[in-house]
Amino acid sequence: MKKMILDIDTGVDDAMALAYAAGAKEVELIGVVGTYGNVYTKQGVTNVLNLLEMLGRTDVPVYLGEEHAMKKDYFDRLEISAKIHGQNGVGEIPLKTAQREVESIGGVDFIIDAIKKYGSELTIVATGPMTNLGMALQKYPEMSNKIGQVVIMGGALTVPGNVSPFTEANISQDPEAAKLLFESGTPIVMVGLDVTMRSVLQYSDTNRWRETGSPAGRNYADIVDYYIHIHEEIAPFLNGCCLHDPSAVAAAIHPEYFTTLPLYMTVETDGPSVGRTIGRTEKLREKNPNVSVCIGVDSEKVVADLCETLETLFKK
Ligand code: RIB
Ligand code: CA
Repeated sequence: MKKMILDIDTGVDDAMALAYAAGAKEVELIGVVGTYGNVYTKQGVTNVLNLLEMLGRTDVPVYLGEEHAMKKDYFDRLEISAKIHGQNGVGEIPLKTAQREVESIGGVDFIIDAIKKYGSELTIVATGPMTNLGMALQKYPEMSNKIGQVVIMGGALTVPGNVSPFTEANISQDPEAAKLLFESGTPIVMVGLDVTMRSVLQYSDTNRWRETGSPAGRNYADIVDYYIHIHEEIAPFLNGCCLHDPSAVAAAIHPEYFTTLPLYMTVETDGPSVGRTIGRTEKLREKNPNVSVCIGVDSEKVVADLCETLETLFKK
């Protein structure tokens, strides 16, 4: 079993990643840290608490992470985020309010404590802006050679960005934090738009969850149908919704589904291509790069594993 922390901005595809990690037999989910992005941090954490209770996983502790980028003192949610994920982040579907609250220690300190405790056994899957990891690195730089790996949903190497021609949404929220992470030497798997837009979920898939007849199955089907519906407008060529964040969980538990390119990576933090994830020229001749960039994927396997894992979880 892989010890895993999710660091997420919940968000519809984050909600799918959460259920995937909560249901996967390969994963021991030791905690979830909330961040800002698709929603404000507090809303994201509320969504995680509500979803975990619905999934019968109140054993998983939930922590409040950072509320804005490292170099800012505010975060304003973008209108497009409310459109794509719904005002409440979970497709406008009202969820039953969880009985419990977040843990008393903050998300960054939880991450640091977990790295000290579990070391190389620990995988962190980050599917929002990388601010919590950036802050953890500033407080505890040694984490880069202690942690097992960090799998991020973020960036784009071989395709354009989705916020600008150069940048992907999670990187764009805090390019400085992402740059700090990439250049820290931490073992990273980058699951960017290069692969996340190749795995697509359709109404026929969510219907399988609805047909389980459980509240979790019905709610998840409704939440993701909202997201599929929006994709008909924002990316009609897909014929469904892309699986950004679940792809990061898939890469953590099934690396064999992906082909990767080893690279030393960085993020541009100023200039016209701010937010671009790109190889570091000065490191081209060095051996053993710390970032494995996913450039190919067996999408059928990703979609099938996600659908089956959630279907099994919803039947419990
Ligand atoms: O670019 C895709 C990413 O942006 C995903 O993590 C999605 O949830 C949004 O935050
Ligand atoms: Ca996300």
